[in-house]
Amino acid sequence: MAQLSFTLNGLPTTVTYEEGMTLLEIVRDLCHVTTPKDGCAPQGYCGCCTLLIDGKPVPSCLRRPEQAAGKDVTTLDGLEDLERQILVDAFVREGAIQCGYCIPGIVTRAAALIRSGKRERRDIARGLSGHLCRCTGYARILDAIQSAAEAQDKKELESPRRPIILHDNTNTASSPGKANGHGVGQSADRFRGADHALGQKEYVADLSSENMLHGAVVLSEHARARVLSLDTSEALSQPGVERILTAADVPGQRHVGLILRDWPVFVAPGETTAMCGDILALVVADTRFHARQAAAKVRVDYEVLEPVIDATAALQAGAPAVHPNRPEANLLDVCRVQRGDVENALNDAAYVLEETFETQRIEHAFLEPEACLAVPQLDDLGRQRLKIFSQGQGVHDDQRQIAEILNLEPSLIDVELVTNGGAFGGKEDLSIQGQTALAAYLLGRPVKTVLSRDESILIHPKRHPITMNYTIGADENGHLLAVRARMVGDTGAYASVGMKVLERAAGHSCGPYRVPNVDVEARTAYTNNPPCGAMRGFGANQASFAIESLMDTLAERVGIDGYDIRERNLLSPGDPFATGQLMTESCGVQQTLEAVKDVYKANASRAGIACGIKNTGIGNGMDDSGRLLIRILSNESLEILTGYTEMGQGLFTVLRQVVAEETGLPIQDMTVKTASDSRVLCGMTTASRATALLCAAGQKAARQLAAALDESSLSELAGQEFLGEYVCDFTTKPGSETEGEAPKTHMTFSYATQVVILDDDGQIQRVVAAHDVGRAINPLLCAGQIEGSVHMGLGYALSEDLPTTNGRPDSTLLRDLGILKAKDTPEIDVILVEVPDEYGGYGAKGVGEIGLVPTAGAVAAALYKHDGRRRTRLPMADAHAAKASVPKTRRQP
Ligand code: FES
Repeated sequence: MAQLSFTLNGLPTTVTYEEGMTLLEIVRDLCHVTTPKDGCAPQGYCGCCTLLIDGKPVPSCLRRPEQAAGKDVTTLDGLEDLERQILVDAFVREGAIQCGYCIPGIVTRAAALIRSGKRERRDIARGLSGHLCRCTGYARILDAIQSAAEAQDKKELESPRRPIILHDNTNTASSPGKANGHGVGQSADRFRGADHALGQKEYVADLSSENMLHGAVVLSEHARARVLSLDTSEALSQPGVERILTAADVPGQRHVGLILRDWPVFVAPGETTAMCGDILALVVADTRFHARQAAAKVRVDYEVLEPVIDATAALQAGAPAVHPNRPEANLLDVCRVQRGDVENALNDAAYVLEETFETQRIEHAFLEPEACLAVPQLDDLGRQRLKIFSQGQGVHDDQRQIAEILNLEPSLIDVELVTNGGAFGGKEDLSIQGQTALAAYLLGRPVKTVLSRDESILIHPKRHPITMNYTIGADENGHLLAVRARMVGDTGAYASVGMKVLERAAGHSCGPYRVPNVDVEARTAYTNNPPCGAMRGFGANQASFAIESLMDTLAERVGIDGYDIRERNLLSPGDPFATGQLMTESCGVQQTLEAVKDVYKANASRAGIACGIKNTGIGNGMDDSGRLLIRILSNESLEILTGYTEMGQGLFTVLRQVVAEETGLPIQDMTVKTASDSRVLCGMTTASRATALLCAAGQKAARQLAAALDESSLSELAGQEFLGEYVCDFTTKPGSETEGEAPKTHMTFSYATQVVILDDDGQIQRVVAAHDVGRAINPLLCAGQIEGSVHMGLGYALSEDLPTTNGRPDSTLLRDLGILKAKDTPEIDVILVEVPDEYGGYGAKGVGEIGLVPTAGAVAAALYKHDGRRRTRLPMADAHAAKASVPKTRRQP
């Protein structure tokens, strides 16, 4: 043990700590100051743990305690009140916060940058080199810092917010209305925005419970290996260890999964691993430090087997089976989309183009690694139940799977989804909730497990690499006649939702274009690579890169530009989507194209263009439901309960706006939370559906409340509840349609057109993204979502990758993932287009995913203008010359 004396936020502090602890662990675990977040310790790359040592910003996970001895250590909490207030106000006002996990570290850095006199945008962007934000695309963070700097210079709290660009057809509210500026169509401040900015919003890793223990996982070292033995004896003798759980401890189902139960909670001795992130054991100890130290002492003997690493080879006869008991060997699923007669159409075509495209596996890199807290409780009948604090995406899916593992009634598992630090689809599957719940259940004590960044990357599913062979045919004027595509997706070790991702890739194979003849087959293969599942865009991105690239080649062959080829082929109301679903009047892709016409035509020699379409709602025969409960509390406030979670997209904010719009009640008196109450059963927060569905459900509930308020005061309604429900139950499963009727694949779609403009050196100077969002419930948050998506799309296009060797990621370092930093991100101008949807609440369509659907295609088209090279593989890593340039000054629209 060692001792450290230092000053923490102005208070003389002395702590006794274990050798090997970092300064971050001392501040968080021993001093209980949780404002600095752990995003990647001990990698020191994300910046979430930034604090000031003698006024200098440093990543505290990289600092040894003795480096702080005798020094002033200041977290965000210790900044001067006015300085902190100016920064927090600016971050909330500018819409710079989404999931918020990166924000306390960035605000701390911003204070130092402003103190040092940084004012120019480019300098501030460079100053953020030690930080990642996966949600925002940085532009609004830079706005906030510049705005705060101006306010500090003037010693005033306010400076003007950067305006949102609205297309002519937008319907956003221009007057405060009865909701006092917080209703539908208005840019209300984010729910708990100030708490996020101050670092006072607790994530799961920040929670604690009396008598709490800590879990640490033991992972497989090999992607495919028989586990011969597991020796826990040395680990059990380590300080603080209470118990080590293995497969033998699971009383119920040992395999879980969102669709197929193929993912083991623990791999047992005698069984074969399917990936490097397979969990073999959970060590439970009195501190996280002890649990992790002991986990390193668990000895595992393996018989290492040759892994299956190539998806196409995995589907060949005789390939080793990743899951030996499956009758279909490594073929998880096949999806076919067929209409018309492709063979004849290709024979008649004036132009036939064939190309193979390859996309890469990428990591979500949400900045909050997975965490879970499980707390045993007794119910009214004296039965043991568990309260689970999860950062997942599906409260009822978490509940169901944990109940199955423990062999308990689901009603005995009360899950609360704590607003998480980003997810992007990567938190749909269980990570460590099952093991943590089991530990708490067996030990009768609260247990918390928090994954490290390395463990997080090894465990959760990624974006699918897909190989796509396309043949398209068009007439002499460039009108598409046929699309044939053959796709193979690598779903890795476990199914997750892989079959649905490839189904979505097949469905979106023709992009937002009118194609009379379609023949697409998408196969999903198991391998021993990291599992792949849901990730923002969900198969649409991969298909979009292929079809948009081919549209560009077709334009060149026909002799027209990228705009005109798209204008000739875009879907209009009444046209069939690839699956045959007929577009309705809410199809706004033409309007998005028109919104960028001038900027594209004016920069045609150095600009690329691409269009995008993305489903809202899962569809394909599955119900999409939104349920929302308004509960009136005794103190003249109300609580909004939903089964969908907040993960930075702004769902909780817009739900308050809906209730305010209908009732006129102040949003300050409303709280929102995700709960496993069966009355708000919704399913996974996925498929860009939560806002559209819950705004419809919330409108119904709020109108009931408004009617009740006509008769009674809010205090008289205390204890009453108002339930709103909207269920989309009319979509059709492919192949199940009634003869002669068009399929109804999805509830609705959202649409986009993006233009990527290069400078003379081939660097990306600007992205203009026009998006049909149906109705912007909150224009500020809506534009922020799209900016963040475009930023992720630029990384997908240019630099992001997660290569593997023998199934193991070559690196689990954040710095090797290729995520663009602030200094590499160009200006992104979002144009909101509103073509109202007939089903989504107030006309809203999904926004969460489409922002990066067309981006890679637009980048590829722009690069072709620069160097004449057609690129068919992602990332386009050869295009480093195309790194983005940040302007010197704050851009005005
Ligand atoms: Fe920056 Fe989510 S707001 S990572």
